[in-house]
Amino acid sequence: MKVIFVKDYDEMSDKAYEFVVQAIEGSENPVVGLTTGGTPRGLMKRIVEGVNSKQIDVSNTTMLNLDEYIGPNEAVYSAKTYMYDNLYNLLETAPKNIFMPNGAAEDLDAEVQRYNEILAKHPRDIQICGLGTNGHIGANEPGTPFDSTTFIAQHTDATIASTMNEYGITREESPTEMLTQGFKEILESKHVVVFVSGSHKAEAVKAVIEGPVTTDWPATNFRDKDHVTFIIDEAAAALLNK
Ligand code: F6R
Repeated sequence: MKVIFVKDYDEMSDKAYEFVVQAIEGSENPVVGLTTGGTPRGLMKRIVEGVNSKQIDVSNTTMLNLDEYIGPNEAVYSAKTYMYDNLYNLLETAPKNIFMPNGAAEDLDAEVQRYNEILAKHPRDIQICGLGTNGHIGANEPGTPFDSTTFIAQHTDATIASTMNEYGITREESPTEMLTQGFKEILESKHVVVFVSGSHKAEAVKAVIEGPVTTDWPATNFRDKDHVTFIIDEAAAALLNK
């Protein structure tokens, strides 16, 4: 994997945006995989500005998501709410396609299959991922096999706490499961970008960059993958030896 060190959240968002633009400009029918949470808010803003100022044209671009919480589509924490509030409702030109897992599907096994078929038909040019404080990628939590495929994941307590914090909800309101791309689908993307900001991610960054490759820290699965790029800001890199 490659690692790019940047100063702060803004520089991290700029760099991630650059990679998204490269992916969009580098293909006739680009497919961009996005994610939710605190980390991508700056990236979403930049995509909105880029599209609305006509710096980038997304009319041929397919956008889809890494994962979705199991729960109502309109929940404050749902990836659907996040994507429409932060991106799709703000774009003056719509992307060609928008795909998301349906976290409210009655038959979740069938939904996993449906989403996997969409992924198979839409090979990603880029997949953006955040990093959990416990090293998770998507909802590939500690202990998940490195060859996981799209599945319904159970969140760890650390992830539930992060969700409560991010969306200002109680433990009872917080989702505990997610439909997530597995490592297999994530790594099928031509380029995987993991971006990380803030001192609360420093322990995970140290484990991912300097620790042993282990399912205890899921993102260590990327260590030997040349098409994965980490973008890490100073606060998140603070515990690294060099
Ligand atoms: C969310 C997702 C998660 C987050 C990760 C970091 O769709 O896939 O893996 O990327 O938990 O979350 P933030 O960015 O809120 O720190």
